[in-house]
Amino acid sequence: MTQARPSRLYVDTKRVIGQISPLLFSGFAEHMGRCIYQGIYDPASPHANENGLRQDVLAALRELNYRSMRYPGGNFVSGYRWEDGIGPKENRPSLRELAWQSIESNQFGTDEFMQFCREIDTEPMLAVNLGTGSIQDAANLVEYCNAPVGSKYADLRAANSQRDPYGVKYWCLGNEMDGPWQIGHLDAAEYGTKALEAAKLMRLQDSSIELALCGSSSSKMPTYPEWDRISLELCWEQVNYHSMHYYADNQDGDTASYLSLSAAFEDYVDTVAAVLRYVKAKTCSKHDVYLSWDEWNVWYKARGQSDMRGDWTEAPHLIEEVYNLEDALVVAQWLNVFLRKADVLKIACIAQIVNVIAPILTKRNDMLKQTIYYPLLMFSQMASGASLDLLVESPRYETKKFGDMPLLDVSAAYDAAAGQNTIFIVNRSQTDRVPLEINWQDIAPKRISSAHQLAGHDPKAANTWDNPNQLTTQAIYAPRIIDGKAELSLPPLSFTALGVEV
Ligand code: AHR
Repeated sequence: MTQARPSRLYVDTKRVIGQISPLLFSGFAEHMGRCIYQGIYDPASPHANENGLRQDVLAALRELNYRSMRYPGGNFVSGYRWEDGIGPKENRPSLRELAWQSIESNQFGTDEFMQFCREIDTEPMLAVNLGTGSIQDAANLVEYCNAPVGSKYADLRAANSQRDPYGVKYWCLGNEMDGPWQIGHLDAAEYGTKALEAAKLMRLQDSSIELALCGSSSSKMPTYPEWDRISLELCWEQVNYHSMHYYADNQDGDTASYLSLSAAFEDYVDTVAAVLRYVKAKTCSKHDVYLSWDEWNVWYKARGQSDMRGDWTEAPHLIEEVYNLEDALVVAQWLNVFLRKADVLKIACIAQIVNVIAPILTKRNDMLKQTIYYPLLMFSQMASGASLDLLVESPRYETKKFGDMPLLDVSAAYDAAAGQNTIFIVNRSQTDRVPLEINWQDIAPKRISSAHQLAGHDPKAANTWDNPNQLTTQAIYAPRIIDGKAELSLPPLSFTALGVEV
């Protein structure tokens, strides 16, 4: 192992980017493969509680501290009739689910999802079907969830054992409606028109709800970013968030570029944020719309035909991506980007939470935490307060896709009320240790109270059922702060999270 030139980080708690929304640490659970069935809900598992929810999975989800949960899809939602998933379970239909070519038993539906959210103390975020669904269906679901008893759908909820309204605040107006693969796909103007009418009806049911419009389903779509402009121009005043989706890959096996992918994430946010500013100016609006990155993760190894189709079976093994060290370092950088864009980005949902491109894999009797679990855990537990605009002086390296990039990717938060500054650092080098000097410019922190690191030699190494703890965060020696400075040496291929008592 060689050593790179020293680097310096300057922290000033007055240089604030924005307040970190807790909803940046949210998840996404779709009726797809084994996410719901055999992941969250598996009455046949020895770990199931009396409601069929897996207790080992619930414990891991609680530890990850997801602040909200998007549900029920994904592509699934565009063919979903929510009324099939409520009422006595024996009366619910088994149906051919077209998006993933699977059999949907409907044994888990809206009420079970609400119970699940209560169990893990998270806010539900429901997507409505704007593919085969009507604006009336969408409004009816808002009534079912949020209206007091005394009308048809609210009374139906009460008959299903839930008298008090659920009070669902966050709603998504469909899913990836720009994608030709989407059931009921529309062009931007058609979608904007339908979304506007759905929003109107949903708000007539409950004026307090917050709505997310479908943005482009990736920055690689041919209609990007025109789709975003057109749909936003039509719906600006009615929506609170505009969605982004992105799945990262190292298809070319170019690890140096892959480890600098945060450049692409930042570019994507900057472009869509520019569209938001453009539309706000064009519509002479005083209203603000924020970004909701409501599907994000690494996904490329499990993307073959057979990964995407369930052959008309229940809970098939679909897109069960295995995550390695380099994937975890990309996820850590993604979370760094969320903090660095905290002024405009207010929601982010990792896709997905169990089995399907997820930090957790299950077998009926067992559960495995993948590498990406650990950066999520660190951020979700530690990042709060204000995000800081840092000055980073780092040695650089050459990449094919992004040119000259810094070896270190860093973000930081300052929570004045909690008296805590947190710093998150990825060393992208595959070979070099990077010595780092941290300088606090406007405060004299007391001490580094926690220091954790995920690191390894092999970017392709992963946790396996036989070796489940090969790659986890380890407590490392917390350097002392002397005269407002601390020094540490960051190993190659590493992610470090520091908690600093102020
Ligand atoms: O998360 C898997 C799928 O990816 C979702 O259903 C869809 O929205 C996206 O294309």
